[in-house]
Amino acid sequence: MENTVIDPKEITSEDFLPLLGTDHVEFYVGNAKQAAYYYQSAFGFELVAYAGPETGIKDRCSYVLQQDKIRFVLTAGMQPESPVSQHVLKHGDGVKVMALWVDDARKAFEETTKRGGEAFMQPEVLKDDDGEIVVSGIHTYGETIHKFVERKNYTGAFMPGFEPRSSQMKIKPVGLKYVDHCVGNVGWGQMNKWVEFYEKVMGFQLLITFDDEDISTEYTALMSKVVSNGNGYVKFPINEPAEGKKRSQIEEYLDFYHDAGVQHIAIATDNIIETVSELRKRGIDFLYVPDNYYEDLSARVGEISEDIALLKEQNILVDRDDEGYLLQIFTKPVQDRPTVFYEIIQRRGAKSFGKGNFKALFEAIEREQKLRGTL
Ligand code: FE2
Repeated sequence: MENTVIDPKEITSEDFLPLLGTDHVEFYVGNAKQAAYYYQSAFGFELVAYAGPETGIKDRCSYVLQQDKIRFVLTAGMQPESPVSQHVLKHGDGVKVMALWVDDARKAFEETTKRGGEAFMQPEVLKDDDGEIVVSGIHTYGETIHKFVERKNYTGAFMPGFEPRSSQMKIKPVGLKYVDHCVGNVGWGQMNKWVEFYEKVMGFQLLITFDDEDISTEYTALMSKVVSNGNGYVKFPINEPAEGKKRSQIEEYLDFYHDAGVQHIAIATDNIIETVSELRKRGIDFLYVPDNYYEDLSARVGEISEDIALLKEQNILVDRDDEGYLLQIFTKPVQDRPTVFYEIIQRRGAKSFGKGNFKALFEAIEREQKLRGTL
């Protein structure tokens, strides 16, 4: 099948859900205090805010971490019956909320729910001495939520209910800049349903389609479609498993997450070689691609600014499209279950997703699946 890439700027239909970007990603985890330490020490995030029993929130505690434009919230439940604890019991550590930054959270809620979006939370005004925030939310795939966050009248660290906190150690950022895209895994035959949800309910546009011939190895296959909002700031690829000789990574994810959910978050850097070498020093594990990947790299991607020897040393992958090229690498899962992982990406003109690397990457994942006995 042809891969069509639409330039989001060409999208002319009226944007009923203008998005300013990703506001934050909230993870429900088993131990937020320790997870916060990992994101600070390994990924170079700064602690900026906290909510919990000390700030009057009784059922949970949340640590807010920031690096450049990326904001992560790590939340854990305090009691077994807490919805946070229940979420972790079923899914393991995972993404609960992909929050989108909007100018008008009431309108975002109204426009999406009238188009069939299922309400998660009615618009709520949260106030403190630093001003007010309006938050609303709708459901997306699995138990995952999109919140709409309006913060134009707020100057505090994160949100009312949170108090400012700073890291107790010296933080060295690793050059992570912004969330490039968040990928969801959905069940068999569910991809088109969720693409339609983003088109109809959120006014997104289908950007690219990858069928199982694009994304297959000798053993496993998957299908993927990428949707984007009007200004292209927010992109959500959606994967579903496809038939192969063996069990695909998407099926493995679904078996361990026990639902549809977020598979990976791609984070942009301006210098992937420095970012990745620093992350490696701090103990982050990446997928391994064999050395022969680099043998024909120049022939495949042409002239690039980076030293191929350094890319090989860091095991960074390269792919080219009509507009330029991109460099990317994937971590191994960052919690005990083989579910959520990160992609580190540097775009040098390319707006695509590294199709030329899919085969090498999926073979790398299959090697990991084999070690886990889940291939
Ligand atoms: Fe990705």
